[in-house]
Amino acid sequence: HDRAPLTNTSSSIPKLGFGVYQLYGKSCQKAVLDALEAGYRHIDSAQLYRNEADVGAAIQQSPIQRQDIFITTKIRQSAGSFEKSYQSCMESIEKVSGKDGYVDLLLIHIPGTGRESREELWGVLEKLYAEGRAKAIGVSNYRPQHIEEMKEYAKVWPPHVNQIELHPWCQQREIVQYCEDKNIVLAAYSPLSCGDHLNDPTLGAIADKYNKSPAQILIRFALQKNWVPLPKSGNTDRIKQNANVFDFALDQGDMKTLDGLDRGRAGALFPANVK
Ligand code: A2P
Repeated sequence: HDRAPLTNTSSSIPKLGFGVYQLYGKSCQKAVLDALEAGYRHIDSAQLYRNEADVGAAIQQSPIQRQDIFITTKIRQSAGSFEKSYQSCMESIEKVSGKDGYVDLLLIHIPGTGRESREELWGVLEKLYAEGRAKAIGVSNYRPQHIEEMKEYAKVWPPHVNQIELHPWCQQREIVQYCEDKNIVLAAYSPLSCGDHLNDPTLGAIADKYNKSPAQILIRFALQKNWVPLPKSGNTDRIKQNANVFDFALDQGDMKTLDGLDRGRAGALFPANVK
């Protein structure tokens, strides 16, 4: 799969990723192995998903070399102090990548409960970045105000990635515009709208036109928006299907039609986060 540069770093991110939220144990391991076999080279985990060790185990079992796989994980919240949060991140890194391992991308999962914890966590991520244990660092579910606030304390700014919910019905245009202006890569979680809109008739008509599934159209839409989609599936056939999106392109008219489906709604984790 193609890769996109991560501004100000020496690394790049595969444009399609595999999401593992709600996959656990052996079925998580199997899904990751299926994904690697289907050609994905980018796996998106998080402390919150409670499957970092399963992702790590699958990568160990896979014939694909660690350096050819891009692994993301996310720290959920402060563990109580800078030192404890640093330790918590190190545990996550070692779960997904073994002792002395590294992650390709480490994110703060949500803006959470106030500036103090955001500042502490960003300091931890900067330290891990300086130490080479995270090849890139970023945020998730951040709004422009949170990223602007970072200027007051960040040594590394802008964050390399902001991961938010993105699909035609949830386009978060203000955040997207802000991140594009700052060269912050946008990773798209729930690119299939969690399956909620796969029966949408407008989407269905476009899928028929290209002889592709609705899910493939949504992944293609994200790619053509320069978002990094992270579709999830626990099913081998759908895992393969979702990676089979590099042999066609949506025309401008269809992109515009899908654009028109936006409901102007904020992402899944809003507004609970806003503090
Ligand atoms: P399953 O795991 O049974 O494949 P999102 O990535 O937006 O969060 O959406 C994930 C949901 O979409 C899951 O319920 C997943 O179910 C379903 N899904 C994933 N790929 C496809 C596909 N190609 N066709 C239909 N449903 C899909």
